[in-house]
Amino acid sequence: MKGKQAFDSLDVIYIELTNSCNFDCIHCGNDAGKRTSLDIGLVKSVLADFNECGGKKIMLTGGEPLMYPDIEEILRECARHEFVTHFSTNAFLLNSDRFDFVFDYDLIFRVSLDGTRDKHNEIRRNPFAYDGLISAMKKISANEQQVILRTTVMKQNKDCIADMLFEIDRLTKDEGIKIHGSKIWPMRNIGRANPEHMLTPAEYRDFLLNLNEKTRTFNPSFKIVVGPTFGIESEFKNGPIQSNDIYTCNILSKALEISFTGDVYPCSFVHYSLGNIATTRINDIFRSEKAIDFREKFLDKKSKTCDSCSAYESCKGGCIAENYQKLFNADNCKVKDVYCFRECGVA
Ligand SMILES: C[S@@+](CC[C@H](N)C(=O)[O-])C[C@H]1O[C@@H](n2cnc3c(N)ncnc32)[C@H](O)[C@@H]1O
Repeated sequence: MKGKQAFDSLDVIYIELTNSCNFDCIHCGNDAGKRTSLDIGLVKSVLADFNECGGKKIMLTGGEPLMYPDIEEILRECARHEFVTHFSTNAFLLNSDRFDFVFDYDLIFRVSLDGTRDKHNEIRRNPFAYDGLISAMKKISANEQQVILRTTVMKQNKDCIADMLFEIDRLTKDEGIKIHGSKIWPMRNIGRANPEHMLTPAEYRDFLLNLNEKTRTFNPSFKIVVGPTFGIESEFKNGPIQSNDIYTCNILSKALEISFTGDVYPCSFVHYSLGNIATTRINDIFRSEKAIDFREKFLDKKSKTCDSCSAYESCKGGCIAENYQKLFNADNCKVKDVYCFRECGVA
């Protein structure tokens, strides 16, 4: 172990329970390959270790976590340990009574919505995805559970996000759907994702400004957060859109992701294995030499890249998922968010 550790305790674990999914989204960043799920015994021991170390928050994800064969047992364990449990889902399967047991647990549903009906269906490659999602959200709301929407922005949906928000707001007013918040982030080039769908930095900036323009007089019943915004936060003042102006990445300090293979990653967008839960306890991985080295490299390079930028305080360098390998290059090359529009002549 090196001297002073520049990180806190492990507060959040993202668990990718399985890579099985009922959808095949065009932007999916999961690693391709054979359908695999985490061993239930391993997950339970991670949860027990995490609880023992004072851990608080679990994010269950996938693939589709409802496709995990032992999902009910995992929910039971999370409840027993009194974790705040987030459930990341496309929600489609919740329409089946077979999954009604999920409503016996106190969960925060992070539900994916990628546009208006046609765009969502196109991106999710399922003609019934949108209607299934809306009826599932009604069911979640009827069961008094929280819904946070998560939207991934790409070329296909950049022009329909405002209309999507207007429609969701209408549903909260007319159809009893309760939405706690809406989070809108750009697509990342990870795993088997097709980078052709990604916006250019200039397109991303225009997307933010257009969304802001279209929603100036909109008064939604839920909070809308976009990010990263690379220093144009003041544009959103007095409108409903909030910049995630603390786009700080908790992978450095508080969180880890367990992939469906058991490999532990700094986050779902950085597939750099720090260890595997089959051989090492999660807290030991968090505090391992490899994890500490990664954090040090990450912090070092980030300040070198962006420290002279006036937007640094707002974005903290954004997300470097696509470029994390450069951290290991010896040539001290610069690393920054692929969406940063500060130097593309339009900022
Ligand atoms: C991987 S999915 C897993 C949970 C569930 N199957 C779902 O669709 O919500 C979790 C979230 O990651 C988003 N996502 C998938 N691929 C992505 C990518 N390449 N970049 C950014 N977000 C992505 C999805 O849109 C979804 O909101």
